[in-house]
Amino acid sequence: MNFHNSIIGTVGDTPLVKLNRVAKGAKGTILVKLEYFNPGNSMKDRIALKMIEDAEKSGALKPGGTIIESTSGNTGMGLSLAAISKGYKCIFTLADKQSPEKIDILRALGAEVHVCPTNVVPEDPRSYYSVAKKLNAEIPNSFYPNQYDNLSNALAHYETTGPEIWRDTDGKITHYAAGVGTGGSMCGVAKYLKGKNDKVTTVGIDTYGSVFKKYKETGQFDGNEVYPYLTEGIGEDILPKNVDFGLIDHFVKVTDKDGALMARRLAKEEGMFVGWSCGSAVYGAIEYAKENLQQEDVMVIIMPDHGTRYLGKVYNDNWMKDHGFTETGSFPTARDIVAGKNAGDELFTIHSSTKIGDAIQTMNARGIDQAPVVGNGEFVGSISDAKILKALIGAPALKNRPISQIMDDSFKFIALDNTVDVISKVLDKDTKGLLVRDDQNKVHILTQTDLLMSLTK
Ligand SMILES: Cc1ncc(COP(=O)(O)O)c(C=O)c1O
Repeated sequence: MNFHNSIIGTVGDTPLVKLNRVAKGAKGTILVKLEYFNPGNSMKDRIALKMIEDAEKSGALKPGGTIIESTSGNTGMGLSLAAISKGYKCIFTLADKQSPEKIDILRALGAEVHVCPTNVVPEDPRSYYSVAKKLNAEIPNSFYPNQYDNLSNALAHYETTGPEIWRDTDGKITHYAAGVGTGGSMCGVAKYLKGKNDKVTTVGIDTYGSVFKKYKETGQFDGNEVYPYLTEGIGEDILPKNVDFGLIDHFVKVTDKDGALMARRLAKEEGMFVGWSCGSAVYGAIEYAKENLQQEDVMVIIMPDHGTRYLGKVYNDNWMKDHGFTETGSFPTARDIVAGKNAGDELFTIHSSTKIGDAIQTMNARGIDQAPVVGNGEFVGSISDAKILKALIGAPALKNRPISQIMDDSFKFIALDNTVDVISKVLDKDTKGLLVRDDQNKVHILTQTDLLMSLTK
């Protein structure tokens, strides 16, 4: 008889499939490794199993223990499957930008799920990293796998995914591309393949709003690179230990929109119903391939998960339209508005230590109603004339205090391709301005007046 003793026996050994239509324009053979063939429908089944088994060996996880992890969903799914087979409990913390489907799946598998705010720094006690750490400290006999810094993550890919790719390409692979989140699937596979043939080139796919590409290219961890984005699973605002920059030859950044549209094309044109970050990986890898691959080259792109987890987002037409992601938007975009501004216009900002009285004088002289507040080279807050008026009426002596005492939260960043209808939903009585980064990395402010002007031109 041919059977597995439990579901975890079915992890790994996923197929390689050639891209036919979406890779047009690129030379060489471009293959994708479809990790949704794993029992939890993602490549994270591999690392979940390895982290648990290594913890059992080291004694960090004991019988009847509780597994606590901060996860974008897929690792939770893999951990749940392994925990069910091995008799552990699971508690997960997720960021609230994650698809509701992912949360429901984890609960269906018996896990306890804590949903935490996305737009807070990792050190904030409300972040999903901090909540997981706190629960781990409080709950006896609990184990925190920490997929970001637990090297069993990359090792799982070194021991399984890498050898499968080498075997299935008959050692002919020349390029490997993967989205980079924790870095496990990029660096574990890269280490194995480069060990077999040091000429294999690796391409990491990053998001706008993530620190990786700039860090690789300049060695600088730039907090200004960090801003909210929507793609799930790739890009980070931290440097996980599983990312070994020496193993990643190039980084390509992909927008939320390009990744989402490519995921939809993969479904329609290749019959591959894949997750959002798969679209990002394929889009970025093909951009790279068009410039760099030769006819005899063989590229493998890893496809982390399945499309069902994004039914309410990337595969929902209304959601796509709401986010300005549909191919033919009729409204102008942030890009159009920014292009219409004077090229020489510098963003007006106020330093957080500026006295409130001085700030209002300067704003008044320039005819500005609201401005971002900066400190330590980062956007730390925002201020409006209405807010200053309210503060001074309450306590006139405040005029000699720094603006940081009364400032509001920083203006949010939005994507350059968002359309005016979407942007207008974000601007309201509490949000007077938004920030957007152009292709040259220059930051611009968008206000209600900018939106009105763009619609009446
Ligand atoms: C959907 C998805 N894509 C890509 C990744 C990135 O993979 P890695 O963590 O191996 O860098 C993840 C990891 O969380 C993911 O969940």
